[in-house]
Amino acid sequence: MGDLAIETAGVGKRFGAVHALRDVTLSVPRGTVLGLLGHNGAGKSTLVNILATLCPPTSGTARVAGFDTVRQGRQVRRRIALTGQFAALDERISGRDNLLLVARLLGAGPRAARRHAAERLETFDLTAAADRVVRTYSGGMRRRLDLAASTLGDPEVLFLDEPTTGLDPAARITTWRIVERLAREGTTVVLSTQYLEEADRLADTICVLASGRIVATGTPAELKARVGGRVATARLPSAAAVPAVMRALLEQGLGPEHDPGRGVLAVPVTGPRDLANVARVLDAHAADAYELSVTSPTLDDVYLSLTQQPVAPPRAAVR
Ligand SMILES: Nc1ncnc2c1ncn2[C@@H]1O[C@H](COP(=O)(O)OP(=O)(O)OP(=O)(O)O)[C@@H](O)[C@H]1O
Ligand SMILES: [Mg+2]
Repeated sequence: MGDLAIETAGVGKRFGAVHALRDVTLSVPRGTVLGLLGHNGAGKSTLVNILATLCPPTSGTARVAGFDTVRQGRQVRRRIALTGQFAALDERISGRDNLLLVARLLGAGPRAARRHAAERLETFDLTAAADRVVRTYSGGMRRRLDLAASTLGDPEVLFLDEPTTGLDPAARITTWRIVERLAREGTTVVLSTQYLEEADRLADTICVLASGRIVATGTPAELKARVGGRVATARLPSAAAVPAVMRALLEQGLGPEHDPGRGVLAVPVTGPRDLANVARVLDAHAADAYELSVTSPTLDDVYLSLTQQPVAPPRAAVR
């Protein structure tokens, strides 16, 4: 099927008057992880659903695993799996029986199905709960079971629509490890998320969607580089030292800024020499400075600069 797992050209989707997607053109090399990032209603699920053949685009074309999602839907479906935004499990039967059911539906014989189910339960850390009815599972366990079911058919392309929304930090990290392992083993993964940290950790390429359009594409590092470089910050308790510090930093060719309200000095730096100069100046003129640190732009900064819309709840203030 060539080197691309996914290739779209000018994909658009309208729901009546709502333009859910416009002119989405992207390509995803095999064995890579694509992160779809965007606010509520940006079009992430719509794009995932089109690629997974659940709905046709109103314009443009999409190929997945080498086949056209509209004309060759059956071939596409044979090679993909989808874990939706809401888990699709039978609540009334056990986790093991859910997996057995899916394995049999995928064509495995009874023995092979038992073996595959047991393997997946082990991998997804569900062996202890395997024979409990799913109704008694926590949200994180359901997600893991859903993921386990999705991987039963050894899909070439796995679509994960917000796989960690609503999970606690431990369950989120477990899910990340699973995605990382699948990617290492060669599965192409398309993952939609509202968590920038998640896209940063997992995605080889990030596609930022806003109001149905792609507003940026690149590696996490490329996207971060777009909003600027590193900044050294320090807290200066005494305002009296500020003028001398600012003057000395300017003499070093640096561009310091001081926020008197928070007592924070911020200096864009490009390398260790700049940082050493900042440290020397503080040592000479403001010995009581503290919390000298270097921060890189986060994907939050990227996202905000691209869309002017917050995506995740604000992080708790860190002291
Ligand atoms: N079946 C539908 N009928 C009408 N409008 C729809 C339908 N599905 C999606 N939309 C609209 O298309 C737009 C994109 O929705 P979509 O579900 O793709 O967003 P999303 O990025 O997945 O959002 P979320 O983060 O909330 O899951 C929204 O305006 C939504 O209301
Ligand atoms: Mg969605």
